[in-house]
Amino acid sequence: MTRLYLIMLFAAVILASCSSNEKPMSKEEQFVEDLLEKMTLAEKVGQLNQYTSRWEMTGPAPKDNAGAQDLSAQLKSGMVGSMLNVIGAVATRNAQKTVVENTRLGIPLIFGYDVIHGFKTMFPLPLAEAASWNPELARLSSEIAAKEAAASGIHWTFAPMVDVGRDARWGRVMEGAGEDPYLGSAFAKARVLGFQGDDLNNDLTIASCAKHFAGYAFSESGRDYNSVEIGDETLHNIVLPPFKAATEAGVATFMNAFNTIQGTPATASSFLQRDLLKDEWGFDGFVVSDWNSIGEMVPHGAAADLKESAYRAIKGGSDMDMEARAYIDYLEELVNEGKVDGALIDDAVRRVLRVKYRLGLFDDPYKYCDVEREQAMLYTGEHREAARKIARESMVLLKNDKQLLPISDKVKSIAVIGPLADDKDSPIGNWRAQGEANSAVSLLEGIKAAVGNNATVSYAEGCQLSIGARTFAHAMTYNETDRSGFTKAINAAKRSELVLLAIGEDCFQSGEGRSQTDIGLKGLQMELFNEIYKVNKNIVVVLMNGRPLAIPEIAEKAPAILEAWHAGSEAGNAMADVLFGKYNPSGKLPVSFPRTVGQCPIYYNHKNTGRPVPEAENMVLYSCFTDAPNSPLFPFGYGLSYTDFEYSGITLDKTELAKDAEVTATISLTNKGTVHGEEVVQLYIQDVAATYTRPVKELKGFKKVMLKAGETKEVSFKLTDKELGYYYPCGKYVVEPGQFNVFVGTNSVDVKQTQFSIL
Ligand code: BGC
Repeated sequence: MTRLYLIMLFAAVILASCSSNEKPMSKEEQFVEDLLEKMTLAEKVGQLNQYTSRWEMTGPAPKDNAGAQDLSAQLKSGMVGSMLNVIGAVATRNAQKTVVENTRLGIPLIFGYDVIHGFKTMFPLPLAEAASWNPELARLSSEIAAKEAAASGIHWTFAPMVDVGRDARWGRVMEGAGEDPYLGSAFAKARVLGFQGDDLNNDLTIASCAKHFAGYAFSESGRDYNSVEIGDETLHNIVLPPFKAATEAGVATFMNAFNTIQGTPATASSFLQRDLLKDEWGFDGFVVSDWNSIGEMVPHGAAADLKESAYRAIKGGSDMDMEARAYIDYLEELVNEGKVDGALIDDAVRRVLRVKYRLGLFDDPYKYCDVEREQAMLYTGEHREAARKIARESMVLLKNDKQLLPISDKVKSIAVIGPLADDKDSPIGNWRAQGEANSAVSLLEGIKAAVGNNATVSYAEGCQLSIGARTFAHAMTYNETDRSGFTKAINAAKRSELVLLAIGEDCFQSGEGRSQTDIGLKGLQMELFNEIYKVNKNIVVVLMNGRPLAIPEIAEKAPAILEAWHAGSEAGNAMADVLFGKYNPSGKLPVSFPRTVGQCPIYYNHKNTGRPVPEAENMVLYSCFTDAPNSPLFPFGYGLSYTDFEYSGITLDKTELAKDAEVTATISLTNKGTVHGEEVVQLYIQDVAATYTRPVKELKGFKKVMLKAGETKEVSFKLTDKELGYYYPCGKYVVEPGQFNVFVGTNSVDVKQTQFSIL
């Protein structure tokens, strides 16, 4: 054998062994690649185009109404890859059939819908659910919502919204898990797992969508769709963590956002969508634009026309175009002109096909379109029972001064008063999917069912809250003048031992496009409260709302306040469970409640500033207001119980630790009262001196613990690198040496404190 021959043989062996190490393509990848190979450019672009059904418009209709008339022709010619707002086993089957039977390759549609807090059985708003501090409940409600939606032909929900919301003026705080990235991450993960289960191919699960990527909740002054200017440190430490958590939980899709962020439309941001999401986090699903967010680049001033918008969006990593018609009109042209690389289109299409494959749509495009299943699966007794359980655990007892609650069975006359007292619609909330109007159990109904013959219940509306149309598409008009119901309400209050006063927000008062400059009680509600208060001081205020409300006067005067939110289908029963003590409230606020709108945005995890207020507030030349305190009306993490919990001091297993080591904090918790109850034990840290300033407190652990009356339990939290570090503005995660304060307590203010150091 010659030397050359030997070398060649050796090289061949090495090459063979290398190629045998290469991972063979998975069945999924193989399928997607084979299909992609067969597709024309036009067919590829069609997969990236999404239209609404137009029965339900969740955004403004395109001006020229383009495409509305020839939708069927477009479906038949493969120009549409996805539809939103097509609902029901029959309707989805028809649309699917049109596509599968008429297009050359028969690639099925994927049907998306906003299943935000239930499909037909409505659960509390996401913000309310977060107040349970029990992510398992969010997992359960998402699982049920997925089952119902899947039975109605839906493959994909545009949820969860994981935007960290600090500003109560922004109407969409109702859709998220509140102001904290740690709590928000726990809920993001739970919801993704709830919707998707562990197998997207299972026809009881649907694909989920983390939205709105990114920064949308930071719109200036809380005005929806407004520009966002946040620093990179805030972006990495506050905004992005729940999105990352959703990715780690396997979320199938992402939706980008309407806003610009530092001057770049999120929809065109290759930093967010390509560098971070797809490259660094390894996300292999697809990104859908928000409703016409590609088209909105023109009024943003980021593109001269729709063609340039299409160019910027595809370059930026938006894979699917919702309702802008930018991709279907211009992508082919842009590729043919050599302006957009065909490889970018392939990448986007691959992602869409992947998700369709994972849902099992290529095996059976009609697997979600089963009329019998649809009839059997929606709004079942079991689902409503879960809705009641979740709703009562979401409620937060804000005040209980005269021990008016739980209502004793010695109380023989109750007046249920207020514009929301017998409102069967408001508890259904905004973003109600197929939740039927006026289908919730009202407070009045819940109370009547709970008291039976034990007490008399009288009812008076007092005043209407809103007048005129009450729909997703209309802004509310409030009743400012009609007091004709006051007398009846005052008389009912006079006659009764106890008043339950139901006030707050109408169902369509919070939600998309519902920004407000005044977040107090609208219309005549405050006046009604004061009239009732004159004649009966035993008032329990039951709040129903989707955002934090600034209600300082109520907080001062009313002896008891229950935050019930918009609590879903079983709202009234759940409220009665809490009010009569069948369920001991355990909810804690996932957002700070301001005293006045002027404090917004207000959040517990703020920075200390160079001039923190020492003790007294209202001091000039310090970082405070001169006409209001800095502190919120009710802080983050706050909520009372019918029992009392006592916290011991915190013990740490070490007070100095090496980098990469762990520390465990332990407290003991005693139920000092006479009834059992659950407490959410919260752990916060403060990195006292850091390269980039850290907040005064950051939630880094919480546990919901059940204690019998008189019982004591030890509660421990382990702090590791995962909790102790933070992101530099460049996105690098670092644990820095130095002193850390640790706080454990019942809310973000009432805490025990100790400290340790990282060497
Ligand atoms: C909202 C999204 C929603 C979409 C589709 C948009 O206006 O911002 O959150 O998923 O409409 O309904």
